[in-house]
Amino acid sequence: MAAEIIYGSELAQEIRSELKSEVETLNGQGIHPKLSVIIIGDDPASKSYVRGKQKASNKIGMDADLWEYDSTITEPELLNKIEELNNEKSVHGILVQLPLPEHIEDQKVIEAISPEKDVDGFHPISIGKMMTNQETFLPCTPHGIIVMMERAGIELEGKHAVILGRSNLVGKPVGQLLLNKNATVTYCHSKTEDAQNITKQADILIVAIGKPSVISAEDIKSGAVVIDVGVNRVDGKLTGDVDFESVKEKASYLTPVPKGVGPMTITMLLHNTIEAAKRIHQ
Ligand code: GUN
Repeated sequence: MAAEIIYGSELAQEIRSELKSEVETLNGQGIHPKLSVIIIGDDPASKSYVRGKQKASNKIGMDADLWEYDSTITEPELLNKIEELNNEKSVHGILVQLPLPEHIEDQKVIEAISPEKDVDGFHPISIGKMMTNQETFLPCTPHGIIVMMERAGIELEGKHAVILGRSNLVGKPVGQLLLNKNATVTYCHSKTEDAQNITKQADILIVAIGKPSVISAEDIKSGAVVIDVGVNRVDGKLTGDVDFESVKEKASYLTPVPKGVGPMTITMLLHNTIEAAKRIHQ
């Protein structure tokens, strides 16, 4: 039996139209959610991501301003700009696109953003609240993955979720969110021995290591839910970490790349910015 393909692109449109209505309601109350995005340098992929964020914001009627800096900007200059945006009442969410140039310390920048405006969910306060299952801004890609599975009607409680990859951006937090949903969570990473033995036990397999086609049908259990978080370029073509053709014949649900997890990430950023605006005006 072939897997049901979960198109994040379609779900994202559905959620964005709900968010658009929410923005209209807030506008009616005199609240105008606004995101500020900072980008440093001229990496084409990062530039394309931030333009996507700005366009998606505008499409739901939300303001998003873009602060573009040359890679020669100093760390104190950047920290000053963040402080200015922290104090700017009209700005509800702040996002500094990663990665940053080598002379700027990522963690210092992440910690400079006010937790009330941390729509990326990367601040240690946001992470700590997520760990202890308190309300907070959840990191966008992990949150998008959970929403995708929930909206597809996939039961998470009691299921064995295996996470392939332990990055701070995706692997680690998605495991935590699954644990918060009462799944049983196992992490596999580059030092894991006999990872295939573990991935084959997964009811839910999240693949986030950034290597094309590392997971194929022989690595999964029949009927598993497989979420592909990979973003790889092979011969100029965007592909995931999962061998789509073989896995779709054995899995129960599978996300494609492109049109899978990617569009959900931006959607959750819009969601967080609207939440930030609501909280500040409460
Ligand atoms: N770079 C790649 N993904 C992300 C993200 O979700 N947020 C930020 N700030 N930078 C990124």
